[in-house]
Amino acid sequence: MSKLFVRPYQFKDREAVLRIGADTAFFGAPIEAYMEDRNVFLEAFYAYYTDIEPEHAWVACADETVVGFLTGCVDSHIHDRRYVRFILPGLVSKALRGKYRFGRRSIGYLSGLLGGWLRGEFTHADLETYPAHLHINVDSNWRGHGLGQRLMDAYLQQLRKLGVKGVYLDTTSLNEAACRLYEKIGFRILDARPDRFWAKWFGYPVENRCYGLRLI
Ligand SMILES: CC(C)(COP(=O)(O)OP(=O)(O)OC[C@H]1O[C@@H](n2cnc3c(N)ncnc32)[C@H](O)[C@@H]1OP(=O)(O)O)[C@@H](O)C(=O)NCCC(=O)NCCS
Repeated sequence: MSKLFVRPYQFKDREAVLRIGADTAFFGAPIEAYMEDRNVFLEAFYAYYTDIEPEHAWVACADETVVGFLTGCVDSHIHDRRYVRFILPGLVSKALRGKYRFGRRSIGYLSGLLGGWLRGEFTHADLETYPAHLHINVDSNWRGHGLGQRLMDAYLQQLRKLGVKGVYLDTTSLNEAACRLYEKIGFRILDARPDRFWAKWFGYPVENRCYGLRLI
């Protein structure tokens, strides 16, 4: 029997966190379903949390192996400013120098994202009431052992200690286990909008959802 526990993220966990992040990015399955080069996604999406705000990240371990994580941000306005300053220039520079592989899948996905944005399908949270946000993923072999719940407990306790007013997260109706977990904890849907890109992909209606939880 493995010993399961949750602890704060350390820099040595970076590779494992990024691997799990990419292996679970397609509704719990690997990102390669819609992107040829996982580094584009990891550097655009997760590098902020592992490299710039690592003090609010948590990992779930089975013995010494990292099998899940929660990456957090306590102030989403600060995230946006730091993202533009520290992450975006590197991404643009690497893309222009041809350091990423963009094939049909990535181009289809990125144009789908753009279309969703133009059609107003992205959800929004009121950042004054819900300033913090999070991303959570557990390796498919280790789901259902209570680690998702323990990661959430650790982060929410940290936010409460810091006096943060509220926390939000973005997900979809396809992330069923995740939605159940959030609702069980007390999160409620703040905003929900139909997503045409994923609906076309899967052949049935999909909803983008923003969940929020007030902490004080
Ligand atoms: C969502 C996720 C992090 C949950 O982690 P987990 O370790 O499997 O969850 P836990 O074992 O702690 O379960 C906690 C609660 O989640 C819900 N849940 C977990 N697995 C579920 C499943 N297969 N079906 C329905 N609800 C489920 C239940 O409410 C459960 O509480 P209960 O056991 O009292 O019923 C994990 O399933 C995951 O990584 N999924 C794929 C990626 C993903 O969707 N990430 C979230 C993106 S927004």
